[in-house]
Amino acid sequence: MGATDDQTDHQDDRTRVRQGEIAAGRPLLWDVYDDSGQLLLSKGYIVVNERQRRRLLKEGLRSAASLSPEAGSAAADGLSEVGGNPFVTIEQLTLRLEGVLGTIRQQGVDIAPQQRIRKLGRAIQALCDYDADASLGAAHLKHDTPYPFRHSIHTALLCEQVARRLNWPRLTRLSIISAALSCNVAMTELQAELVEQAEPLNDVQWDAIQAHPRRGYEMLLGAGVSDPLWLQVVIQHHECINGRGYPAGAKGEEVLPGARLLGLADRYHAMVTGRSYRNGMLVKNALRRIFLDIGQEVGSSLAQMFIKELGIYPPGSIVQLANSEKAVVIRRKGELGGPMLACIANSKGEHYARPRHRDSGEKEQFAIKDVHPSPGSLPFSLSRLWSY
Ligand SMILES: [Fe+2]
Repeated sequence: MGATDDQTDHQDDRTRVRQGEIAAGRPLLWDVYDDSGQLLLSKGYIVVNERQRRRLLKEGLRSAASLSPEAGSAAADGLSEVGGNPFVTIEQLTLRLEGVLGTIRQQGVDIAPQQRIRKLGRAIQALCDYDADASLGAAHLKHDTPYPFRHSIHTALLCEQVARRLNWPRLTRLSIISAALSCNVAMTELQAELVEQAEPLNDVQWDAIQAHPRRGYEMLLGAGVSDPLWLQVVIQHHECINGRGYPAGAKGEEVLPGARLLGLADRYHAMVTGRSYRNGMLVKNALRRIFLDIGQEVGSSLAQMFIKELGIYPPGSIVQLANSEKAVVIRRKGELGGPMLACIANSKGEHYARPRHRDSGEKEQFAIKDVHPSPGSLPFSLSRLWSY
């Protein structure tokens, strides 16, 4: 970042997208890339709204030459970025997911969506290999990108972390992550609407929600997705083993393990994420809800494994210490066995000038006493808290 509107990227011949070259509601005249050279949106994609136009002006680079599907697909590979700041990578992946789901929604046929989503999935796997704790922290605290795509990225990260713990094969996990990224493709606009809506669902919204697993399955199939596990997990991601899910009311073993995991991660992230009209649920309350209720819908052993993997204080939890400091949990386990913390405020609630990193196992006064009742806004960026 930091480039001006007319700056040329010297790594290749791409230039910044300029004012007047794009407009909401109009198709792009060229492929658009981000600063690292990854394909964001393809030629012909219709810019959805003013917000997306502004983001492309800020972050987009254009190329006069059109890419072949193979080259474009390679450019969409997010793996090369993993190893830097995970919070930046997550933001880039979110923007890229918005692009590819938009292409599917507009029935674009330029670059195979299956390949592009799989590459996002592989980047998510690499991110979990690289820094699982920071990825979990982002799932709880990163709120500055559009909800539908952020929710999908974070749900996919949660699925990968739990599925790894269950020793599911990497390719099986990739199919499940791909499903997590794309399962709500039929209702992204409605999701964005609902996150702002305090009132109960109306009949039209209710019908759209009931229909979205099957509709999403059809859209993905139509866009060339051929992975049977991915497609099955999409159509089943709201089924419950007690038969009370939708769209088919499948029961027990009929509901695939991957679909149950995705359903669980989806519900957990929705619970802990704030809305414009309410704060997110406290992590301990969300985990209790999984233990008591949601376990009956997805299977108690899976629910227990999910809770075990996240721990009582997963990264991103806001906690109060025995010495009354306020802190963010940044790692599940430090060298002394307890969570690692970034303290953000003293016992009087006054913010520190910089985060103070502590090992909760080092002294009694650093022990976690409770979750903080009201997270509120944080005085530091996630990069600063996690020292990136
Ligand atoms: Fe869904």
